[in-house]
Amino acid sequence: MSVNTLPSLATLPPYVFSELERRKHAARALGHEFCDLGIGSPDQPTPPAVLDALRIAATGSVTNAYPPFRGGERLLTAATNFMASRFGVEFAPHREAVVLAGSKEGIAEMLAALCGPGDVVLAPSLSYPVYVRAPQMHGARVHLVPMDPANRWQLDLASIPADVLSRARVLIANYPNNPTGAVTTVEDLSELVEFSRRHNLVLMHDLAYSELSFDGHVAPSVFEVPGAKEVAVEFHSCSKSFNMAGMRVGFVVGRADALDALLAYRSNVGYGVSMPIQHAAAYALDNVRVLTAPIVAEYQHRRNALYDALRDGGWDVTPPQAAMYAWLPLPDGMEAWDAVQRVLMEGRVMVTPGLAFGEAGSRWFRLSLVAPAADLRAAAARIVSVLGNVPAGVR
Ligand SMILES: Cc1ncc(COP(=O)(O)O)c(C=O)c1O
Repeated sequence: MSVNTLPSLATLPPYVFSELERRKHAARALGHEFCDLGIGSPDQPTPPAVLDALRIAATGSVTNAYPPFRGGERLLTAATNFMASRFGVEFAPHREAVVLAGSKEGIAEMLAALCGPGDVVLAPSLSYPVYVRAPQMHGARVHLVPMDPANRWQLDLASIPADVLSRARVLIANYPNNPTGAVTTVEDLSELVEFSRRHNLVLMHDLAYSELSFDGHVAPSVFEVPGAKEVAVEFHSCSKSFNMAGMRVGFVVGRADALDALLAYRSNVGYGVSMPIQHAAAYALDNVRVLTAPIVAEYQHRRNALYDALRDGGWDVTPPQAAMYAWLPLPDGMEAWDAVQRVLMEGRVMVTPGLAFGEAGSRWFRLSLVAPAADLRAAAARIVSVLGNVPAGVR
């Protein structure tokens, strides 16, 4: 006997990360030990001072009542102060900001609030899966906008057909990008803003990796583009910047009517975010520079170790300037799942096939920098020996 589910839920294509889990368990059941670089879940601890803030808040009088839908004063203020000091843009805490139980959840809630049958969502051809699955669950169609590797993986907006554009409600962008590690500029973002304004789209910018940049790169906010508040919302996360993925907290800022839609949706299905967690997030944002410096340094060290080992193995690859991934091409002629399975069983490394982010990733695979540098170096050497040479010059 099985339950009846929503038709849209039942017809979603299989989730690649579930298949990865299945393969992982199968390998473990055979007694294999491996280095798991599949999912991008932080392996480093949450900063102790953030945990202290959580503990202190949890023993105060903030856990008896339901938390407010939009967010508590403390985190709304910390989030808008962060936007002002980091990007130079002011937001009204009670009109232009909402606290989220993770940016993934917030993105899904906003898409649910904005899109339904007959609508089109414009998502990157390499997408963090919620961009595609949330609209599909609500009966909206997704049009994948090609990301062009020859143009720094930026979105090819000119390729979107006019009949698709006329039904489009939302454009999603994500820089620094998961999975490619690509970065963007204020000029690139201003094209997205202009395009969204011209076609009456809500621009949803996912800035989950805002603080994880290397070699002096500083990731811009879409709100550094003048007038962006009229079209855009931007999702921020504490998960990666502060190793707080397990606390589930982030925030969204921007266009007030889109945030109202999100709140209307949220108030019908849930409540605000746990208050002690909001206090921990507020502490983290108030101390962003001090807390993120060692985390970023560690990711940069890991990235260097991994790419040095790949280059020592003869791979012609360029390290990404941001995020926490290596996005690497598969050798010519090797099928994606075959490659993943061989790397797992022969190389003892779990990687993610690029397919997890859409068909456009079928010739690529992703490694997460979630192990110490020495382990990454050793994993890279084993991957090179299993896969041999990758296509020359592919970045
Ligand atoms: C691009 C992107 N957006 C959002 C998220 C989810 O972040 P959160 O933990 O805030 O839900 C991730 C997590 O990997 C991500 O890669």
